[in-house]
Amino acid sequence: SMLVEMGSVVENNILSDDVRAMVIQAPRVAAQAEPGQFVMVKNESGSTFLRRPFGVADVDREQGRLLLIYRVAGKGTRELAGLEPTMEISVEGPLGGGFRFGEVSGGAYSGKEDGRTLLIGGGVGVAPLIYTARYLAEREPENKPLFLLGVRSAEELFWQDYLKEFTEEIIVTTNDGSAGKKGFAIDALPDILAAHDIRHIKICGPTIMMEGLAKLAMERGIECQVSLEKRMACGIGVCLGCTFEGKVSGKRWKICHDGPVFPAEEVFE
Ligand code: FES
Repeated sequence: SMLVEMGSVVENNILSDDVRAMVIQAPRVAAQAEPGQFVMVKNESGSTFLRRPFGVADVDREQGRLLLIYRVAGKGTRELAGLEPTMEISVEGPLGGGFRFGEVSGGAYSGKEDGRTLLIGGGVGVAPLIYTARYLAEREPENKPLFLLGVRSAEELFWQDYLKEFTEEIIVTTNDGSAGKKGFAIDALPDILAAHDIRHIKICGPTIMMEGLAKLAMERGIECQVSLEKRMACGIGVCLGCTFEGKVSGKRWKICHDGPVFPAEEVFE
């Protein structure tokens, strides 16, 4: 269930020009957060930006810590980037529904007969997939997920440091060709599907990126879940600013409350 916990900043490190990694001491939220869920954070050290949602990038339950990786892209995130170790930060969560595992094949995630999972991340959408990769790797060390990492340039390869322990292989695309395959994640997907027995795909990134990837997955009959990054204001199902109509169910879903993770076929057709 959802908690509001006064946490404290442990680290707030620079990963690239505009991406930062914040570790927060918040043991009660850390004990409950599942892969794909998010938290709302609020600066308690003086200033006034609104609460904001961030996908949980990773959790260290032993240490009682959460990792958030965020892009500095406005007043709120600039303020967040200015927080220093020991400063207080209020953490509300875990919120929303995260990724589902193994339900399509009926019951608990059942190993090799389930084939391999491919995780696909673009931009800061990679963040929640770190925890997802950890979860899969810890449950099944012999069948770690593959990761397709779609970034702008070689400067964003820092993600690999977070992912390599939990993944079988990381396939990289960069828009400018400075590392990996030149192009977008979608350009690498057909080869990956040809070379591996992929049964599950989980994607987090910009909607335009996810659409092409999810459509190809659906065409091939591969179970696919997407995490929607659409801007959330209240985060708790009250403002109705995050709704969309499910393509299959016709239901009016709230991204913050019913998602952010949905089956691809509910979102794209
Ligand atoms: Fe307010 Fe979803 S963000 S209802």
